[in-house]
Amino acid sequence: MSVIAPLAPPAAPLAAAPSRRPAHVAIIMDGNGRWAEARGLPRIAGHRAGAQAARRTIEQALEHGVPWLTLYAFSSENWRRPAEEVTDLTGLLRHYLRNEIKELAANGVRLRVIGEAHRFPPDVQALIAEAIERTRRNHRLNLTIALSYGGRGEILAAVRRAAELVRAGELAPEAIDEETFGQFLFTGEMPDPDLIIRTSGERRLSNFLLWQAAYAELVFLDVLWPDFDACHFAAALADFARRERRFGARPG
Ligand code: FPP
Repeated sequence: MSVIAPLAPPAAPLAAAPSRRPAHVAIIMDGNGRWAEARGLPRIAGHRAGAQAARRTIEQALEHGVPWLTLYAFSSENWRRPAEEVTDLTGLLRHYLRNEIKELAANGVRLRVIGEAHRFPPDVQALIAEAIERTRRNHRLNLTIALSYGGRGEILAAVRRAAELVRAGELAPEAIDEETFGQFLFTGEMPDPDLIIRTSGERRLSNFLLWQAAYAELVFLDVLWPDFDACHFAAALADFARRERRFGARPG
């Protein structure tokens, strides 16, 4: 199996002009397994290296002044992976929450979690709650980790909630517009992503932020997530800065 080579540094200037900088970058961190496999290592080694890449990316978001960063760390489909890998990923998450939060908090990072956090073991749920509470007043970088997250499930849950309110007579069907409906999603208080990056050469959304991605620019990079570095992040920002966003309108 071939390992995807890291991208060459971008030809365009690295730093995007502030007005062309995405306010919200969301990342599908893909390729940990292939990275490990190519080195004859267990998959967990790829996930560990992936966690380091996540750490570097948070630093880069802070460096570039990107105020919102969302990382897809565990999909609702990932529960179907072998029990050993699920346990390893849960252990890595536990380790991450125990060891990184202090530094994140000191750097002005506010943590949010979207997804079905209740499906994780109670001690992990407690660590998540503690990390959210501890960073609640920070606003330099809004870091969201998607855990046991799936876009279709999120939309269905929102539909069910809206339907229950309608049945209870608390919501008129005609009052359900995009804004109201958006409030029922996990991301209710978050802006939509401007830029979604996926690594590993795959070119699909895989159930990530389906509603919220309506007008996002998509950047697919031929690099495995553990190799994702400052150059790749800057290249994605530069690519975003070159795009003309019309949100469905005609060019003026
Ligand atoms: C996809 O690679 C990655 C995951 C399923 C897990 C992502 C987790 C991390 C990056 C580490 C934890 C991060 C935080 C922020 C706690 P894959 O296993 O699907 O790779 P493959 O497609 O090559 O098999």
